[in-house]
Amino acid sequence: MSPTPGDDGRRMQLGLFMPNCSYAYSMSTYKPEPDDWTYESNLRIALAAEAAGFDFLFPVAKWKGYGGKTDYLGNSQETMTWAAALLANTSRIRVFSTVHVPVFHPVATAKMGATLDHIGKGRWGLNIVSGWSELEFGMMGIEVMPHAERYRRTEAYIEILKGLWTQEPGSFNYECPWYKITGGYVRPQPLQKPHPVIANAGSSEDAKEVVSRVCDWSFISPPTLEASREVVADIKRRAQRLGRSVQCACYPFVLWRDTEREAEEERRRILDNIDRVAVDNWARGLNVQSGSYDNFTAEQFALGAGAQPVIGTREQVAEKLRDLFEAGMDGFLMIFLDYYKDTLRFEREILPLLRKMGVPLLGARA
Ligand SMILES: Cc1cc2nc3c(=O)[nH]c(=O)nc-3n(C[C@H](O)[C@H](O)[C@H](O)COP(=O)(O)O)c2cc1C
Repeated sequence: MSPTPGDDGRRMQLGLFMPNCSYAYSMSTYKPEPDDWTYESNLRIALAAEAAGFDFLFPVAKWKGYGGKTDYLGNSQETMTWAAALLANTSRIRVFSTVHVPVFHPVATAKMGATLDHIGKGRWGLNIVSGWSELEFGMMGIEVMPHAERYRRTEAYIEILKGLWTQEPGSFNYECPWYKITGGYVRPQPLQKPHPVIANAGSSEDAKEVVSRVCDWSFISPPTLEASREVVADIKRRAQRLGRSVQCACYPFVLWRDTEREAEEERRRILDNIDRVAVDNWARGLNVQSGSYDNFTAEQFALGAGAQPVIGTREQVAEKLRDLFEAGMDGFLMIFLDYYKDTLRFEREILPLLRKMGVPLLGARA
């Protein structure tokens, strides 16, 4: 018998994969609100998400667009400064930033992060990504390292952040092939103890190993319910073996209409207007040495950059989210087609169904 949700004390955590970049996250010219990437729009969405009881807001860190008619992700709000403004204007919801390891020195990230955690009174979180894009890093003259080495550096980076955030300021030393920290000093240290929530976004063997050793959250992209069950169990088992626990989150593309046919028609409209140039540029860069996205089709990339589709009637959408939660997924970085309106609709139409099904929600419990 499958366990009743919540028997093990888990709660579903709802969040938004925020549109801090343009055309987030459909590589398609069909987009009801093409200007939703602006700060004003992000703030409006953030306040609606907070009022609905959502648990977190999560951005994407991008430095350059991916071309095509949409110039996919071409306008983007940098995620440290974006988080500062959102934390200052909200009061309960957690706000994440995302850093690319090769772009910011870890002492700078530790300093900015401590500042953000103070601005948000302990509500900031950090997603640390190894960086994969030759298109973006080439612009900066930064070489994209071989996959395994990228992740070794990411692990060192996280150890440095933790050292700077938890040890007596001025006392932390660290040496590895990429960094030499002598008398590492960050003051004030963050409010969250022992340190702000640390996530890594990646699905490869290298990513799973790093997450199980040093992260609190794993942000992953399994394409189906079955794949989710397997990858989540694998990550949690690896962490348990080390006496640790890791929570997992995926990014579903959540789209619902009154009937299944209408939802399918909306999905078709996105795909009929697919931006093939952007999809090709994205897929070509992302697949280098990763393996995680090798079997993804152009349509899967176009619809949420590899997001898991959670599409149908409101009942079907609520059931799919529940099933993913029961499969071990703790968090949902939801992608919406029309973020502001869909956040309000989700509160009105989906949350009551989740509550009725007895899904234990964290912030959005009635
Ligand atoms: C939820 C999620 C969020 C991500 N956010 C970013 C991001 O903001 N910037 C970025 O360059 N890569 C981002 N990535 C890409 C990952 O860091 C990683 O490169 C990709 O998943 C492939 O990882 P792998 O080679 O370990 O499988 C994200 C991935 C996921 C699953």
